[in-house]
Amino acid sequence: MGQVHAFDHPLIQHKIAMLRDKNTNTKDFRELVSEIAMLMCYEVTRNLELEDVDVETPVGIAHAKMLAGKNLCFVPVLRAGLGMVDGVLSLIPMAKVGHIGLYRDPDTLQPVEYYCKLPFDVAQREVVVLDPMLATGGSASAAISFIKQRGAKAIKLMNLIAAPEGVEKILRDHPDVDIYCAAIDQGLNAHAYIVPGLGDAGDRLFGTK
Ligand code: PRP
Ligand code: URA
Repeated sequence: MGQVHAFDHPLIQHKIAMLRDKNTNTKDFRELVSEIAMLMCYEVTRNLELEDVDVETPVGIAHAKMLAGKNLCFVPVLRAGLGMVDGVLSLIPMAKVGHIGLYRDPDTLQPVEYYCKLPFDVAQREVVVLDPMLATGGSASAAISFIKQRGAKAIKLMNLIAAPEGVEKILRDHPDVDIYCAAIDQGLNAHAYIVPGLGDAGDRLFGTK
């Protein structure tokens, strides 16, 4: 069974509160999403493998450690996941970035795929799926399935705000995937929006409403 890691760090909680505020404008919303993603990335990458290296300092040889093997692959779910990319890349600039385009059909609430481009060697990489919102879990579950079809085995899911319904769906559909989120809210409303949530993440990021 996958684990759920909820973040209680004060800096993250402070920024999540600002993000939720309906008066936060597009510019600030975008900056907050990026900053929170960067802060969460520390914890999401805690178990990355290290290898021993000897580094010549100006004073001697340091027996140090550096990241081992292939780097990470971040996969934002379009559109809203794009808002998290700059933040995580500021910590891990060598990571590859794949893209999955999905939207929720407003009538059926089912995810519809319209784009998928992943690195050719995604199977050898640890993959972190990025999406600010985990509501019904339909989009994230479908995205993870697409990535698994390309051979990837080590997959994590990183959300800013999750609903219990979405968390349950991911744990059920993908018991091998750990979920990292900054807040788990009350639940979903009749339109499957997270309550209290922050509204429509894509529209708030890109100013489309
Ligand atoms: C939002 C969000 C997730 C999805 C979550 O995307 O960014 O991808 O909804 O809902 P779910 O857990 O019920 O699937 P949306 O479909 O609004 O598309 P957008 O990012 O292009 O705005
Ligand atoms: N997608 C969003 O952007 N917000 C929600 O609350 C649910 C799905």
